[in-house]
Amino acid sequence: MFSTEFIAFDSCTPQKAVTNDDLSLLVDTTDEWISTRTGIRERRISEGENTSDMCIKVAKGLLKKSSVSAEDIDLIIVATITPDFATPSTACMVQSAVGAVNAFAFDVSAACSGFVFAAGIADKYIRSGMCRNAIVIGAETLSKIVNWRDRTTCVLFGDGAGGALLSRSERNCYIAEDMHSDGSLGMQLTGGEAKVRNAFADPEEPDRRYLEMDGRTIFSFATRKVPASIRTLLEKASLTPDDIDWVVPHQANSRIVEVVAKKLDMPPEKFFMNIAKYGNTSAASIPIALAQMSDEGLLKKGQKVIISGFGGGLTWGSAIIEI
Ligand code: UT7
Repeated sequence: MFSTEFIAFDSCTPQKAVTNDDLSLLVDTTDEWISTRTGIRERRISEGENTSDMCIKVAKGLLKKSSVSAEDIDLIIVATITPDFATPSTACMVQSAVGAVNAFAFDVSAACSGFVFAAGIADKYIRSGMCRNAIVIGAETLSKIVNWRDRTTCVLFGDGAGGALLSRSERNCYIAEDMHSDGSLGMQLTGGEAKVRNAFADPEEPDRRYLEMDGRTIFSFATRKVPASIRTLLEKASLTPDDIDWVVPHQANSRIVEVVAKKLDMPPEKFFMNIAKYGNTSAASIPIALAQMSDEGLLKKGQKVIISGFGGGLTWGSAIIEI
């Protein structure tokens, strides 16, 4: 058996920062409502850069930071619900752009849990001996599927990408994981529907193309499932909350994170938050946070970090990694 180590983190977000005040010119909302209900103050919105463009920048950044060559990458996974195309996959576009000619590449669709699920998949390929080096990216251009007339959703989401390079190592840095889905609740958070329209089918109802969410249901789901998942994870790893240096939760709402911290009886300072700056970037939020923490020197070798994603599907998943 082999083990997995996280070698590098990187991120890329669009230049354009859109503040809550900017949005109050588009829909009936206020900075006060958005910031007190969610913790969001601004988000980055693409002015043309698509999901693959940001992923390619992240992949190049990871190669540079890790000094692993493109030819030595044997797996690329992109977690996204907003790919440029259904095919080719975003991961294949990355593979071509960086010249990772020996890699196989595919996308994963698990919404806000996407990065955690994808890192788990990469770990298994590395652990089994099939791969040595894997690039795992979470990336979204959610602005493509946000309804900019719906104040209940358009204030929440942002665009961005983040990723990690995982390599075979003597050190076991992927310590434990806990992954779940409940498809019976899937219609509580939808987007990007494409009904069958062809020469023989012409449905009357329009596609549910834009993101729609029953916010209260998802809030209550997240505040029940995330603490339970983290408790299970700690048990699996025979660790206690005191052994954990950081929790990097999916950045959906700072109030969700406050409830999770309280339920776990963990100090809120251990929960890294950057939602104020980026909003909810779905699969990208956890790796963007990890990259920021790494760049700011907050992540130190040997530290134990819980990553925890939750959202569309519905899906939720957590893992303990060691830096
Ligand atoms: O990443 C995927 C996972 N997603 C999540 O985890 C999201 C989880 N849910 C949430 O974070 C919260 O439920 C929201 C932030 C989405 C909403 O917060 P809330 O405290 O649950 O608000 P609400 O939906 O209960 O709405 C309260 C009021 C409503 O007005 P009435 O019916 O009380 O008159 C809304 O119409 O706030 C109104 N409202 C707004 N007002 C100003 C909703 N959006 C806005 C807005 N500006 N942008």
